[in-house]
Amino acid sequence: MAMRFTDDFIDRLRDSNDIESVISSYIELRRRGRNLVGLCPFHNEKTPSFTVYPETASYYCFGCGAGGDVIGFIRNIENLDYIEAVKLLADRSGIKMPDADYDDSTANMRRRIYEANREAARFYHETLFTSQGQAQLRYLEGRGMSLKMIKHFGLGAAPDDWHALENHLTAKGFKRNELVAANLLRMSEKNGKKYYYDAFRAKVMFPVIDVRGNVVAFGGRVLDNSKPKYINTSDTLVYKKSNELFAMNFAKNGNDRKIILCEGYMDVIALHAAGFENAVAGLGTALTPEQVSLISRYADEVSLCYDSDEAGQKAVRAALLLFSKTGVRTKVIRLRGGKDPDEIIRDHGKEMFAKLLGEADNDIEYRLSLLRDKYIIETADGKVNFLREASRLLSKCDSLERDIYAMKLADELQVSKDAIMQHIAQAVKRDQNAKAKARLSEAQKSAQSIEKAIDPQRLKNIKVTKAEDTVILTLLNNPGFYSKLKERLCAGLFFTAVNNRLFLVIASRLENGESVDLSHISQFLTQEEMSAVAKLLANASMISNTMQECEDCLCVLETEKKNRDRQSPSDMSDDSFLALFSSLNNKDGQN
Ligand code: UTP
Ligand code: MN
Repeated sequence: MAMRFTDDFIDRLRDSNDIESVISSYIELRRRGRNLVGLCPFHNEKTPSFTVYPETASYYCFGCGAGGDVIGFIRNIENLDYIEAVKLLADRSGIKMPDADYDDSTANMRRRIYEANREAARFYHETLFTSQGQAQLRYLEGRGMSLKMIKHFGLGAAPDDWHALENHLTAKGFKRNELVAANLLRMSEKNGKKYYYDAFRAKVMFPVIDVRGNVVAFGGRVLDNSKPKYINTSDTLVYKKSNELFAMNFAKNGNDRKIILCEGYMDVIALHAAGFENAVAGLGTALTPEQVSLISRYADEVSLCYDSDEAGQKAVRAALLLFSKTGVRTKVIRLRGGKDPDEIIRDHGKEMFAKLLGEADNDIEYRLSLLRDKYIIETADGKVNFLREASRLLSKCDSLERDIYAMKLADELQVSKDAIMQHIAQAVKRDQNAKAKARLSEAQKSAQSIEKAIDPQRLKNIKVTKAEDTVILTLLNNPGFYSKLKERLCAGLFFTAVNNRLFLVIASRLENGESVDLSHISQFLTQEEMSAVAKLLANASMISNTMQECEDCLCVLETEKKNRDRQSPSDMSDDSFLALFSSLNNKDGQN
């Protein structure tokens, strides 16, 4: 049975975690009138549709429909459950959590995994300087790693031993199942007996630390040329490798809002050692939208630093596509003099890398050079085809860029700039037409599919939906109206699923004389229901909240209900209505 927090506690939590400052610690917000706007952290966008409403202490994104209160925001962005989100905010503001024996075994396990990872990191690091870590230390030194960098990154050694970490951590009170859940131990079963062994053996260890400073995972490198070169922590309760970037904990600070994205652990460390402390790397997977979103929280410009081989260039194209959906500018570094930054810096010095970074193509230049490679521009045919595609590419750029690159191309290919500009203009027109069409159908489709999935009735009867929205909003904003309206408010009056559920929660609170403040009801609502409330509040200024209007809306709903009942007599008696109330009060845990 999940515990409920008292309104009093939630009040204190909310008052000490001002929504504006909490959200500002994740994304940049700009003031717009009474509200604040920013780029939504929950979907990729270029123009801000994410809005924070200090007055109602809520947020709502007009792009993706995410919304809620400050606790909901933390739940969403930190990927936590309700209680964990409350805890995070309580910790952040130094409020003591109420004592209770609520069931938080998952939260507990997460905490143990963090602790085990931290202990493991310490163990590996200390082992590096003992006889059991000699080979690993020698390996790192052989690759030119300084002691300073070893300490900075907390590098370590997993001993060549099946039980070294297991023995160390169990002696410190960790249970084997916790260590398996952390992916630090593996377990195999034979004849009903369980055997445990260290997941990392005879490896150089790279701890992965998230932006909050928690050790969330490890990469372990072999000391020779055997395969696989690295083994990595697979996903755990505290780690999703598709969401993290190696060294983001360092790179997020003082980076001039610029990030260098490269491929490997060793590259990142070599770059940091050379003074490029804004370098990060993925963790052995292709770049994901989540990682792009993480970068966009801390940077406006990213320089892609991938291998120059075919696989690397494919990765660059994929990355450019992902970043093009955000406001982050992209540059592509063309590596020369070595296969990766680690080699380049080792063989040619950091000045060489600084030079390559300075010469990095912006993505227009990069794409043009890819096109140049595709056609033989010395022939007339090749030139025409190249220019056609180049114009299409430039049609996606702003007018200044068009002008500059048209001039460059005219010069390079000995054709008139006007001819190129004309081609671009045609491409722009084609593009605009296609885009307008696509946007319209896309918007219609996505809005409908979301509503259809969570609340299919909403689309079927706009008038009813509007009336319901108004009644709910009125009750939220004027709880005092409830006593006057309650005779007319009954279950079954609300036709659409989410509103019906919101009404039950609100009515049961008001019936008990409790507040319906967003932060007070949030623990009774799912994320979707919270988003629905936030959306109502976000659009509230358009709807007046008079008693008269509310009564008019009730008339609409009553008429509709009669019509429905005539078609299919309501199967909800007063008893089942009351039963719903009591089930609400006993509703188990949050999802
Ligand atoms: P690389 O093969 O480029 O390795 O893989 P590296 O980082 O340059 O390492 P060194 O210089 O050979 O020691 C790039 C990244 O891909 C992941 C790791 O995150 C690595 O840093 N990777 C690679 C794996 O996860 N497993 C592998 O077997 C290989
Ligand atoms: Mn390398």
